[in-house]
Amino acid sequence: MHPKSFSDLMRLAHGFESAKIFLVANDLGLFRLVGEGSTAGVLAETLQLDERALGILLNALVALGLLEADGQTFKNTHLGRTYLASEDRRESIFKHIHRCWESWNNLADVLCHGQPDEVREEQFLHNTQDWNREFIRGMEDVTRDLAPQVVSKLKLTSPRHLLDLGGGPGVYAKAFLQCYPELEKVTIFDLPMAIDIAKERLDGYQRIGNVRFSEGDFRYDHIGSGYDIIWISQIFHSQDERGCQKLIDKAWNALLPGGTVYIHDFLLDDTKMAPVSAAIFAVHMLVMTERGRTYTGSEIGTWLEERGFIDVFQDVVSEETAIVAAVKPS
Ligand SMILES: C[S@@+](CC[C@H](N)C(=O)[O-])C[C@H]1O[C@@H](n2cnc3c(N)ncnc32)[C@H](O)[C@@H]1O
Repeated sequence: MHPKSFSDLMRLAHGFESAKIFLVANDLGLFRLVGEGSTAGVLAETLQLDERALGILLNALVALGLLEADGQTFKNTHLGRTYLASEDRRESIFKHIHRCWESWNNLADVLCHGQPDEVREEQFLHNTQDWNREFIRGMEDVTRDLAPQVVSKLKLTSPRHLLDLGGGPGVYAKAFLQCYPELEKVTIFDLPMAIDIAKERLDGYQRIGNVRFSEGDFRYDHIGSGYDIIWISQIFHSQDERGCQKLIDKAWNALLPGGTVYIHDFLLDDTKMAPVSAAIFAVHMLVMTERGRTYTGSEIGTWLEERGFIDVFQDVVSEETAIVAAVKPS
């Protein structure tokens, strides 16, 4: 909601404080450690922290509704038990967001130079440290509910071999296989570290026999061929205009005649000033990547038509995301 008063501006400016309290608590694993109930003293000893300082943080977490208190005993809320403390908790996405904070601190500098000094995306592509694992696991946290919802909206007719380009942890691959029993093969193409995680995550999945894993860098490597569907989800925003056009070109070459490419992302409307989530994500890409941003459906549609695709169409597929799709003529 747009700020309408001085109080609203104050609330907006103070927003980072609550976010920091939550993100530090998540990094510490506090929600997991609180379990069925614990005190500041026990938690401080476990984590080797200052008891007074931790007590202040715990009180603030209760004030924010992120923990509950029974006297001096802190407990998880239902939300905390479900998403932050359970076996299949979703803490990775919040760890990832917290690490991105460092890059956001450089926003003013990025505005001077046009791009970050230390480009996270490049770090991401060339190392395999925890940061990147957290990022890929974070993608899993976010798409676990989203992917089945998005995939069921696509209404594919008789798909056979689908390429999930930059498929990350494999959540979309799984959603496609669940939703379309007639799919014979889903190929996940991604960087080696992401493919490792996808393999881990899909281990034991009943349709694993229908999954192919392909390691490579989509900017330079061959992405295969003979696909009737290519799914490119949350990739375009990390590329500049030329990078997006090159991916469209690769998709063209990899698709069978009559095949369809789907580009799924946070799309801006033609003003580039809305919706708010896509406009903010453009700034996120400004601080995180060399030349990434969010795009309008019309920009992507124009590139697709320039390459020769036909029947370009757009659709909103979730609260914050949309697709642009197009067909390679038969
Ligand atoms: C934002 S995630 C999106 C993951 C998934 N498609 C989704 O929608 O949840 C971006 C994915 O692109 C992959 N990626 C980024 N650059 C890549 C490159 N140059 N070659 C191959 N994969 C890349 C990352 O490893 C990551 O899995």
